[in-house]
Amino acid sequence: MSEQKFKVGIIGAGSRGILSFGKTIATRNDAQVAALCDPNQVRMEFAARELGFKPNFYTSVEAMIAAEKLDAVVITSPDFCHEANAVAALSNGVNVLIDKPLAITVKGCQNIIRAAEKAGKSIMMGFNLRHHAVLKKLKKLISEGALGRVFLIENREFYNGGRTYMSRWNRLYAKSGGLWIHKGSHDFDIFNWLLDFPKPVKVSAFAGIDVLNPEHIPFAVKPDVPVGPTCHQCAYKEICPDVYKIDDIQNSPWSDRAVDSDGYSKDLCMYTSDKDTHDNGIAIVEYENGAKASHLECFITPMSDRLYTVVGDRGQAEVSLEKRTIIIRPRWSQEVITHHIPEIEGGHGGADPLLIDAFFKVLKGEEKNSSTTEHGMWSTAIGQAAEISRREERTVRVAELFQ
Ligand SMILES: NC(=O)c1ccc[n+]([C@@H]2O[C@H](COP(=O)([O-])OP(=O)(O)OC[C@H]3O[C@@H](n4cnc5c(N)ncnc54)[C@H](O)[C@@H]3O)[C@@H](O)[C@H]2O)c1
Repeated sequence: MSEQKFKVGIIGAGSRGILSFGKTIATRNDAQVAALCDPNQVRMEFAARELGFKPNFYTSVEAMIAAEKLDAVVITSPDFCHEANAVAALSNGVNVLIDKPLAITVKGCQNIIRAAEKAGKSIMMGFNLRHHAVLKKLKKLISEGALGRVFLIENREFYNGGRTYMSRWNRLYAKSGGLWIHKGSHDFDIFNWLLDFPKPVKVSAFAGIDVLNPEHIPFAVKPDVPVGPTCHQCAYKEICPDVYKIDDIQNSPWSDRAVDSDGYSKDLCMYTSDKDTHDNGIAIVEYENGAKASHLECFITPMSDRLYTVVGDRGQAEVSLEKRTIIIRPRWSQEVITHHIPEIEGGHGGADPLLIDAFFKVLKGEEKNSSTTEHGMWSTAIGQAAEISRREERTVRVAELFQ
């Protein structure tokens, strides 16, 4: 008997929509990418070329849903339009897989939650880190009691590629909610998940643009030769150590032709671009059960890794996603247990295909949705509180966001 083939539409036909989701869904026997929705026609044409087939193109979610009998949509549009796109899809009776963050404010998350409840449709968060084999193993070890009661988590993310957050839409608070939401929401969700979802109560954060600004351009600038505005146009592109080179840019979704239609450049100069987010920072969270967690993110670094230290009353774990190791140190023993977690194929350390697989299992009723909109809301809440904290230089009570 042939398997049901879910008809899927992708909202936001950019990098994540096509390279992570579209291409993976296209390999499945139980799903097809039937339609793309993106205000940028040029980018949809490139998306179809990348996919190797041409789904139907739409520039509005409503038009796509009216014309196609979709079972689900994947939302990979920029963060600021997650709310409108999710509400439009849910109100028209379509299931949703939405990449993090759920929305860029708690209020936006609440609007999505209400729309999902009203429609009675599945909506799953794209928290792919939860599907990372190293973090899955860590969660299992904690659930089995290897650390006892966890009361402290420390996480540091060093991300070389994060420099490009200064080069495109996520550099703007209005479009991404700031990097505590755009980027930190991953890690805040991991804290919530590892701790079994106590409510976050207080957040303090410090962050700034300390390096990727005009004062720290790493080469001599001639008075009559301006820097930027994009890497591909920049007079200094051959000497800038941070040049962001997009292969064959004029024959890519980021070409001048694509930019002409919506003004979205992907390679703005990371030193001179207008931006109101941060290139490094630290956020601290306190939970209702007294647990505490800190998240450091730094995008000026020669290496990339996500490192966690998780401390419980029976032991401590040190984790590296890059080395794929978990070192457990039991509290009253000199024994050290090192777990090496094998590589898995696929984006984000093998997490992306597993996330997509989990979504289709939820649609088929084979699995319960374990990444809910509530979870999405709590990670956004910590990110939003962190952003307010760093701007207003005060500790923020998360309850403020729900008033
Ligand atoms: N989970 C992860 O690891 C991960 C990694 C990267 C990005 N993301 C998330 O994926 C989403 C997309 O990020 P990206 O890096 O692929 O961005 P991108 O810029 O590569 O692609 C975004 C696409 O959305 C389109 N778009 C703009 N406005 C739209 C609208 N109103 N409706 C529909 N489409 C619209 C743009 O034209 C573009 O093609 C974001 O929400 C981001 O936070 C998640």
